[in-house]
Amino acid sequence: MKISAKTKICMVIGDPIEHSLSPLLHNTGYQHLGIDDQFVYVAANVKIENIKACALGIHALGIRGVSCTMPHKLEIMKYLDKIDPTAKEIGAVNTVVNDNGVLIGYNTDWLGVVEPLKIRTSLSNKKVAVIGAGGASRAIVYGLREMGCVVTIYNRTLQKAKLLAEELCVKAKSLTELDDLGNTDIIINATSVGMAPDIHQTPIPKQYISKHHIVLDAIYNPGQTQLLKDAQEQKAVAIQGFEMLLYQAVAQFELYTGHKAPIEEMKKVLIEHMEG
Ligand code: ATR
Repeated sequence: MKISAKTKICMVIGDPIEHSLSPLLHNTGYQHLGIDDQFVYVAANVKIENIKACALGIHALGIRGVSCTMPHKLEIMKYLDKIDPTAKEIGAVNTVVNDNGVLIGYNTDWLGVVEPLKIRTSLSNKKVAVIGAGGASRAIVYGLREMGCVVTIYNRTLQKAKLLAEELCVKAKSLTELDDLGNTDIIINATSVGMAPDIHQTPIPKQYISKHHIVLDAIYNPGQTQLLKDAQEQKAVAIQGFEMLLYQAVAQFELYTGHKAPIEEMKKVLIEHMEG
């Protein structure tokens, strides 16, 4: 047992939270770096009405880092001492760092989309279609725009796409206007279409995908969505949603511990878990 009175606590909060892979990811990272005596990572189910009490608890207990997942990414912002400019612009916080009693909110979700793409291609001036205009899309659109991509949001409800596009200074289209997808370089699914149990659904008919595309699905359950299967059949590059999960956690890990995250080990454990 390496945990002692000196061990700092990090955690993820959400509702529901029982299936979160964050404890697995972060604790694997601590173990690999041999800092599992200094840090431990747990999870707590926090009801939305208890988020203020939770923020007070972070202070009172001296919890070092708190990852926030649904539905807390907006509500937690009310109870923080500082919010980093990127999180402010995205309008959501997924990471809270307790810096000697000062609670600072960050957003690492945008890195979850940018990093897996950057490994595969240069992003400057790339044309990107983001499908969906909900909560998940905001950080994705922000991140790609910051990297110099030309982003168009496609959404079933055009009005929602327009509102988000206006806010983030990108373009908006209806999900029925897919004809110009052939001119885009990257397609990202940020809708819930294709998520388990509806694993045979896809937001984009296969004929719109071709060989030159990079297709990323934000959905990680199932690992291989219908969209990604179609992309592979069309010989496009297909990127699984677990990579987004990995890279947003990597950035959190570094904020909480000050150490560079062991990405390969964290990736390995995530893949093993997804296959299992
Ligand atoms: P999240 O926070 O995970 O993004 P959300 O805010 O509920 O979830 O957004 C879900 C997104 O998936 C929306 O863009 C939604 O489109 P609408 O704005 O038209 O509702 C999209 N979506 C959900 N089900 C869909 C479906 N069957 N076909 C097309 N888009 C769908």
